[in-house]
Amino acid sequence: MSEKITLRVKANGSIRVTGMVDFVDENGTVLETRTDFSLCRCGHSQTKPFCDGAHRAAGFQAPAYQPEVSE
Ligand code: FES
Repeated sequence: MSEKITLRVKANGSIRVTGMVDFVDENGTVLETRTDFSLCRCGHSQTKPFCDGAHRAAGFQAPAYQPEVSE
């Protein structure tokens, strides 16, 4: 049984991942395992898929994740 991973989509910034994650290739081979890191969602990072803070200089703006609520 694996532990639960948390993704926090930050306003005007990255996606913070809390927990241990395996990065795998298209065959499922584990390439790397990381714990607690941030993923880029602005497209400006020089270290994709990870955030390097470039979103600040780029003026990236996007809301934090808000689930759609059906009525
Ligand atoms: S979200 Fe931080 S560099 Fe893209």
